Amino acid sequence: MDCKRNENKTQTTTRKITSKVKKLYIETFGCQMNVKDSEHIIAELSDEYEITQNPENADLILLNTCSVREKPVQKLFSELGALNKKNPNAKFGVCGCTASHMGKEIIKRAPFVSFVLGARNVSRIKEALNTPKAVITDLDYDETTYVFKNTRKNPYKDFINIMVGCDKKCSYCIVPKTRGKELSIPMDLIIGQIEKLAAEGVKEITLLGQNVNNYGKRFSVSHPKVDFTDLLREVSKIDGIERIRFTSPHPLHADDRFLEEFANNPKICKHIHFPLQSGSTKLLKAMRRGYSKEWFLNRCEIIRQIPDVSITTDIIVGFPGESEEDFEETMDVLEKVRFEQIFSFVYSPRPLTEAADMPNQVDKQVAKERLYRLQKRHAEILDEIAKNQIGKIYKVLIEEPGMGKSDNFFTVKIPQKDKYLGEIVDVKITNANKHTLSGEVVK
Ligand code: SAH
Ligand code: SF4
Ligand code: F3S
Repeated sequence: MDCKRNENKTQTTTRKITSKVKKLYIETFGCQMNVKDSEHIIAELSDEYEITQNPENADLILLNTCSVREKPVQKLFSELGALNKKNPNAKFGVCGCTASHMGKEIIKRAPFVSFVLGARNVSRIKEALNTPKAVITDLDYDETTYVFKNTRKNPYKDFINIMVGCDKKCSYCIVPKTRGKELSIPMDLIIGQIEKLAAEGVKEITLLGQNVNNYGKRFSVSHPKVDFTDLLREVSKIDGIERIRFTSPHPLHADDRFLEEFANNPKICKHIHFPLQSGSTKLLKAMRRGYSKEWFLNRCEIIRQIPDVSITTDIIVGFPGESEEDFEETMDVLEKVRFEQIFSFVYSPRPLTEAADMPNQVDKQVAKERLYRLQKRHAEILDEIAKNQIGKIYKVLIEEPGMGKSDNFFTVKIPQKDKYLGEIVDVKITNANKHTLSGEVVK
């Protein structure tokens, strides 16, 4: 049953049909994978539920949670309490990464929650919904042969999972404990799904995974030997797909073959999210990242040879044992690479991780002060980067009226709100600030 069609029907037929359609309110925290999981959940439930933006009239309230830092976890329980006050009659479900590692503890702390569904188990949403007090947090669950449904918001671009889980052991990170072992999704399933999306008019696809360039390391089914570069080549053969993005590649696996493909394949957008975490080789070791400062800088030097390429990154400050000198190494990488964007965080000790038990935890105030210095310097770099954009001509996919993203991931505005929607146009940049560029369509 199609909910939208049903809604239209109710205007001309009986009220009974309206009352059959239940309402789902969903909040999503965390990364793009969680956003994707929420889309899948919405699609999976669409025969019974339609989305509401108002929790007060919802029959089902879902929170799709993130656990990567402490704050979002605290927020979960305050948000649950507030929503329960607003609508005590709704059914509550907690999904995602916090669900994975807290499991039944969530129902203990918030007894009105009806079910808990882990991040590795999104395809089992109906089972969770139909089992009283279900706690489904199976980390070995194999979702890789399951075709994920979605409810994409933008007609021109979409995201697609190419793997589940993470095999790394980064000492600060809880993700391997919430999403389980890394398994790649069979290539024919990925290609088939992207072909379908292309036929629906999607022009840009983003390949998602915790370590996309480790694709092909392990499948749950027998599979020809392939790697991420092979996958990129196959995706770029699909008619209609004009732009390929991916997130996140791991610097350790950024070998020359992959970087050559990135540089030379015209369909691959020239933006790479390349998570540094720290500029200190000593800390990178303690973090178990598997690469050194020199390796990271060397990879960036190669990437920077690509004209107009953007490099964005994630940085953690205040990791256990971080000295002033270690932090200066991070600042040094910032100066050398001049990232187009950084996502920077104060280290947050997480349960089930090695770093949480390290003895040399950094004082929170010291860490916060370092974060401030990092962000302040980066804001200056961004001002300089912005100035350099004037006069450049970028290929921009106009995703919303008057706005789009350049190939190298800048947000670009154009004056026409009623034209070019869904087209990739050449825009000459005439104005720039830290966050947004604007310009005129020249082709
Ligand atoms: N798989 C991706 C990262 C996923 S988590 C990768 O390896 O790059 C997203 C980001 O959250 C990480 O890159 C890291 O910068 C940050 N992060 C993870 N655990 C953290 C913690 N315990 N404290 C602070 N930031 C953390
Ligand atoms: Fe976490 Fe490291 Fe895996 Fe990224 S690669 S999800 S930081 S364990
Ligand atoms: Fe993503 Fe947060 Fe889980 S970053 S993988 S939703 S812990």
